[in-house]
Amino acid sequence: MTAELLDGRATATTIREEVKAGVEQLEAEHDVVPGLATVLVGENPASQSYVSMKERQCEQAEMRAFGRHLPEDISQADLTAEIAALNADPKVHGILVQLPLPDHLDEDETLAAIALEKDVDGFHPVNIARLTLQGVEPTFAPCMPLGCVELLDRYNVGIKGKEAVVLGPSNIVGLPTAMLLLHRGATLNICHPHTEDLPGISKRADILVAAIDEPAMVKGDWVKPGAAVIDVGWSRVKDETAEKGYRVMGNVDFDEVKEIAGYVTPVPGGTGPMTIAMLLQNTLLSAERRAGLVD
Ligand code: GUN
Repeated sequence: MTAELLDGRATATTIREEVKAGVEQLEAEHDVVPGLATVLVGENPASQSYVSMKERQCEQAEMRAFGRHLPEDISQADLTAEIAALNADPKVHGILVQLPLPDHLDEDETLAAIALEKDVDGFHPVNIARLTLQGVEPTFAPCMPLGCVELLDRYNVGIKGKEAVVLGPSNIVGLPTAMLLLHRGATLNICHPHTEDLPGISKRADILVAAIDEPAMVKGDWVKPGAAVIDVGWSRVKDETAEKGYRVMGNVDFDEVKEIAGYVTPVPGGTGPMTIAMLLQNTLLSAERRAGLVD
C-alpha cells in the first residue's frame, strides 16, 4: 500500500471529543445545552438506523436529542406544523429531517419549512442556493460534503489551485461537495451519467470524489499517482465467504486504488463517520451562535 489512509473513524472520534468539550464549556459558562431534533417519517429501516445513530452520538456528546417519529401517512400540513413547533422551541438548536421522505410528501417544501438558523443538515433550498454563490455563506453546509473537506484539511491535503473531479452530481453529496471545493479554490470537473471518458477525466484529478453509487467502479487506472481519493459510496455486496453473507463496499476499488493514490478513504470508516461528526459540530455552532458567542 502506498496511499495514506484518510481515517474517517479516528478523525470523527477526535471531532466528537472536541464537540463534547465545547458542549461542556457552553453549559458551564452560559447554561446552554445544544439540542438536535431528528424528524423521521415512516418505517424505512435504513433511515431508522441512521437516525438512532445520530441520536446516540448526540447524547454521547452531552447534547439533547429530540426524536420525532411520525407516521408514514402524515399529511404535508401536519409535517410542516411539527417542523414549525421545533422552529419555535428554544431548546432545539438544530433540526434534521431524515431523507428520503415517503412519496406523497414534498421534500422541497419540507426542507424549506426548517428555520435557516436551525438548518444544521444544510439542505434548506436557500442554503443550497447560497452554497452556489460567490461571497455568500450558507448558515450551514451539508454534513457529508463538509466531512469530505474536513478530512482533506486534517490530513493537510491542499485544495487551492488543485484539480478536483466529482463523480456524480447528487443533491445530497456530489453537488455540494463540488461547491465547497470550488469555494476553496479548486478547479472543478463534475461528471454525470452522460460524461464521456470517465476514467480519463478522473485521472486528471488531484482530488477525486467518487459519489456514483456503483460498487468498486473507480479502478486503479482511473487515478493519478499521488491523488487524494474520497469515497462516499456505501453498499452491501453479496459475499458468501463473509460472516454476514455480505461485504460493505464503496465506489472505489480500494485494493487497486491504494497502490496508486497518495491518500484514500476506506469504506467503511471513511466519510460515513465524518458525516455525523459534522452534524454534531453544526449543532454546537448553532447553539454558540444563539448564545451570541460566534457569528
Ligand atoms: N439521507 C441520507 N443521507 C442523509 C443526510 O445526510 N441527511 C438527511 N437528513 N437525510 C439523509
